[in-house]
This record gives sequence, C-alpha cells and structure tokens, in this order.
Amino acid sequence: MVKILKIGGSVLTDKSRPSYARIDEIKRISSEISSVSSDLILVHGAGSFGHVQAKEYGLPQKFNPKGLWKTHESVVKLNNMIVEALSIAGANPMPVHPFSCITLKDGRIDDFCCSSISEMVKRNLLPVLHGDVAMDITRGSGIVSGDQLVSYLSRALKADLVAIGTDVDGVLFNRKVLPTITRDEISRIEVSLSGSSHADVTGGMKGKLLELIELAEGGIDSIIFNALIDGQTQKALKGYSIGTKVRRSN
Ligand SMILES: Nc1ncnc2c1ncn2[C@@H]1O[C@H](COP(=O)(O)OP(=O)(O)O)[C@@H](O)[C@H]1O
Ligand SMILES: [Mg+2]
Repeated sequence: MVKILKIGGSVLTDKSRPSYARIDEIKRISSEISSVSSDLILVHGAGSFGHVQAKEYGLPQKFNPKGLWKTHESVVKLNNMIVEALSIAGANPMPVHPFSCITLKDGRIDDFCCSSISEMVKRNLLPVLHGDVAMDITRGSGIVSGDQLVSYLSRALKADLVAIGTDVDGVLFNRKVLPTITRDEISRIEVSLSGSSHADVTGGMKGKLLELIELAEGGIDSIIFNALIDGQTQKALKGYSIGTKVRRSN
C-alpha cells in the first residue's frame, strides 16, 4: 500500500508575499497527517519560496550556479519547517530533496532513484519531497514541480491512493466543482481552465490536471481537494471521495 499526498504551496505559503510560510496551516495539516501517516509519501509545493530567487537569477531559462543554490536553499527552508512541524505532530518525517536525486530531460523527470523512498515507507518513515530546481541534461537546469513529482512517483511506485490538496474545492466549471473529470472532458471545460491566480511558474490548475489526466490514463486515479478546509486532508488520506476525481476515460 502506498499513498501519495501533495499539499500545494497555495495552502502552506502566502503566494502574494515572498518566502512567507503560513505556520498555522503547516501545523494544522501536520497534525491531520500524523494520525494517518503510515504508507505515506508527502510532496509539497514551493509556493512563495524560491520564486524571488529564481526570478532574480533568470531561472529556469538561464543556467546560473548561484541562482540554483539560492533557489534550492529557499525551498529547503520551507521543507525544514514542514518536516519539523510533522515531527512535533508525531510523524517520522525525512526530507528528500529532488535536486539531489533527480535528473530532468527537456523539463521532464528522466532519472529518479526512488528505491530509498520505498524503503522509508516500508520502515514507517514519512518521506517529504518538494518542488525544486534540478539538473536537466538538455537545458542545464530546470524546475520540477510538486505536481510532476506526484505523477512520476505514483507511476513508479504504483500508488494506491493519490490526493492533491490545493486552495480551491476542486476543478471548477461554471463556478461549480466537477465531481469527476476525464481526458475526454478536458476540451469542454478548457475555457474555464487556466494557470494560477498567483505567481506560479508550474501551470496552476491546468498544469496540475495535465499531469493527473496522464496518470489516470495509465490506470491511477487521483483526487483534487481543498486542503484549506479543516479535516479534508485527513478525509482524503482515509479514501473519502471529496473534491474532484480525475479518472480514466471509458
Ligand atoms: N477551472 C479551475 N478550477 C479550479 N482552479 C483553477 C481553475 N482555473 C484556474 N485555477 C487556479 O488554479 C489555482 C490552483 O493552482 P495553484 O495555484 O498552482 O495551486 P497549488 O499551489 O496548490 O499548486 C487555483 O487557486 C485557481 O486560481
Ligand atoms: Mg501549483
């Protein structure tokens, strides 16, 4: 059994303020996770961490050694806060930094040694990954989003449950939450689908859905739910169907 939970940067940080963690949200979500943290891998977004640094040094378009380090350092700060909060809440978190174990090719994960992550899960540790910068064999360097990490890991480890917490109730169409979405329905709702309302280089809801639709077509369903609402993260981890279910087209 493997469960993969992603909590978006939109929940854990204030995307309108540089490097601003929402400590209360981090603590609340950590306590929701800690009671159901077995067989779990947590991925979190970078949110407002790393953006200023990436922009200052022209990432991801430019290859800039100092920019890479400064951006990585910033997202690691957020990761440290989350790992600490999870530990205080009673889980056994271990940080996993994608920069150190992933290679990209044209912006997509090409190589990712995940065996240590499976071992952690077997031994009841909670791996905590995050959106990060990474080396790219064609472009020099790039950015790997939390959403891409989720789709890759879910496929590689054959996840049984995939849940994506964000700051909206699911995929919205005509202001209503869609209970399910498939690849065939994407074109119908495309008009109301856009990136993020915040500064987000990784594609907002559209980027998220594109990752998850591909995953569903490969046989792994997922849900997108509102992690700002108290109790929803725990419900998602217990397998309740909340928010929008992304599933394979018939
Ligand atoms: N059709 C849509 N349904 C829901 N959210 C959408 C839609 N189109 C664009 N969005 C935007 O996508 C955002 C979620 O993506 P993002 O900001 O990247 O969140 P996260 O930090 O969780 O990855 C929402 O806050 C909303 O502004
Ligand atoms: Mg995002």
